[in-house]
Formats: sequence, structure tokens, C-alpha cells
Amino acid sequence: MEDDVERVLIAEDVIERRLDAMAVEIRRDFPGEVLVVIVLLKGALVFSADLLRRLPRMLEIECLNVASYHGGTESSGKVDFLDRKLPDVNGRRVLVLDDILDTGRTLRAVVDRLTEMGAESVKTGVLLAKDKVRSAEVEADYVGFAIGDEFVIGYGLDYQGRYRNLPYVGTLKPEAR
Ligand code: XMP
Repeated sequence: MEDDVERVLIAEDVIERRLDAMAVEIRRDFPGEVLVVIVLLKGALVFSADLLRRLPRMLEIECLNVASYHGGTESSGKVDFLDRKLPDVNGRRVLVLDDILDTGRTLRAVVDRLTEMGAESVKTGVLLAKDKVRSAEVEADYVGFAIGDEFVIGYGLDYQGRYRNLPYVGTLKPEAR
């Protein structure tokens, strides 16, 4: 699997230090509050597990299954909510976590849906934000790293379901696609 990696973009220790800093920011913004954290599956699984253990104990963790890539390396342009029942966020302060902000359609759709469902406020955090013009108007409140507009894998991000468990973020060799 590691042979398929072209280059390591963000090493494990660099991610860990950045998560420490992001957790400080989030704690500062929500002092003493019980937040509902919504983890977008599956991409944000690894990032969220590591970030949430750096936050105070009083959290409610929910997951949302959304899909926009359908296995390839280009966003399909359509965001599907795959769960039959969405978490109850009425009157709650919510923090949505995703792996990467690309076109912006996913975060936009999720924030809009949670707002429609009566969330008091919705903040967003991503591990990575691609440096590009977004199709949907949205920026994340907490960003781990800004990266170029290229397809990345590892630390939760996949190519056809693989590479999510790599402990770093990297790019894939063209021959592995
Ligand atoms: P949008 O375009 O809606 O994309 O902002 C967000 C979702 O698309 C997936 N995504 C990627 N997945 N490598 C991946 O493995 C990438 O470079 C990449 N760019 C976007 C991801 O699921 C994210 O939640």
C-alpha cells in the first residue's frame, strides 16, 4: 500500500501538532458548552477521532453519512444524505467535522440542512482545505491545513475505499489509479 504513495504531503507529527492547536481554538470558542459534534463519514473518521480526544469530555458525537465522490477522484457535484434519520439538532450548537473542503458543496449542503432542522448555530472544521475557487459559497471556521488543488489520500481520505488508515496525508502515484 505504501508503495502506491507518490509523496507524503503532511507527516503524522505535523498533523498531531496542528490538531493540538485546533483543539485550543475550539475550546476557546465554546467554553463550558455541551456541543453536538457531527462527524461526516467516512472521510472525517480518523481526523475526528484524534481531534475529539483533545476536546473536553462534554460532547455529544453523531455521525452523518454523506457521499459526493462515489469512488473516483472528482466530486460528482451531487450531495447525497444516506441516513434514514438525521440527528436531532433543534436548538443546539453544532460543530460539523469533515476531512476536506473541496468544491464546498458537501459542507454547504450539510450546514443548510442542519440550519433548516433548527440548529442554534453551526460551525465547521476540516482537516484540509483545497486552495481553489469553490462552487458553493462556504468556508470552514477551523482549518487544519490549506493544500493545493490535487487529489490526496490518507488520514481518513480514500481512493476507492483504500488508504484511509495511512497515518499521513499524501498523493497517489498515477499508476495506482
Ligand atoms: P466538496 O467538493 O463537496 O468535497 O467540498 C468534499 C468531499 O469530497 C471528498 N474529497 C476528497 N476525497 N481526496 C479524497 O479522498 C481528495 O482529494 C478529496 N477532495 C474531496 C471528501 O469526501 C470530502 O468530504
